[in-house]
Amino acid sequence: MTMNRWAKNPRQIIVDNFPLFKPGTVLDLGGSDGANALYLARNGFTVTNVDKDKQAIADCLSTAAKEFLNVDGVVSNLNEYKIQKEYDNIITLFTLHFLSPKAAKGLINQMKSKTNVGGLNLVVAFTNKGEFDVSRGFYFNNDEILDIYDGWEILLYKKEVGATKSGLNQERLHFIARKAHT
Ligand SMILES: C[S@@+](CC[C@H](N)C(=O)[O-])C[C@H]1O[C@@H](n2cnc3c(N)ncnc32)[C@H](O)[C@@H]1O
Repeated sequence: MTMNRWAKNPRQIIVDNFPLFKPGTVLDLGGSDGANALYLARNGFTVTNVDKDKQAIADCLSTAAKEFLNVDGVVSNLNEYKIQKEYDNIITLFTLHFLSPKAAKGLINQMKSKTNVGGLNLVVAFTNKGEFDVSRGFYFNNDEILDIYDGWEILLYKKEVGATKSGLNQERLHFIARKAHT
């Protein structure tokens, strides 16, 4: 039976902004049971969803199969993941804080280098401002994401504080950038 583990529906940032995506492929890093991946596939994209949760990937693929959607699933630990090929768009939402700082920074570098020119990176992640214990995991410092994506065209950058399910307030950033050149 399919369980929605995180977001039952696609995140608003995906619904509002997918028309900006480069038509073609999307890599979703930490996509769980695929609310975002399935939505993008229903809108014509070929999507690869990577998550360490085997059952979440199985549930995502089962829904995709029922709807004849172009979705592939990979069970893998993103702390060690190597992006295998180039994608038109790469997204990661509410996942980077689960990774070690070294792995998260390495993954972001891979995201940048494995995106085709004209394609997007979309990141939703926590910053280190708020009530979380940020001594473990990766949290963006101030506006460092703007330096990391220096040379990219920034299409959206928004920070807001919000409460998580645990009731703790933590700032999160919403970020979309287009790769202008190699
Ligand atoms: C908060 S959920 C976000 C799910 C989805 N991106 C969304 O926006 O609703 C975080 C996801 O990251 C996955 N995750 C956490 N640590 C991971 C790791 N080391 N490798 C791969 N996936 C991981 C979890 O299994 C979970 O599906």
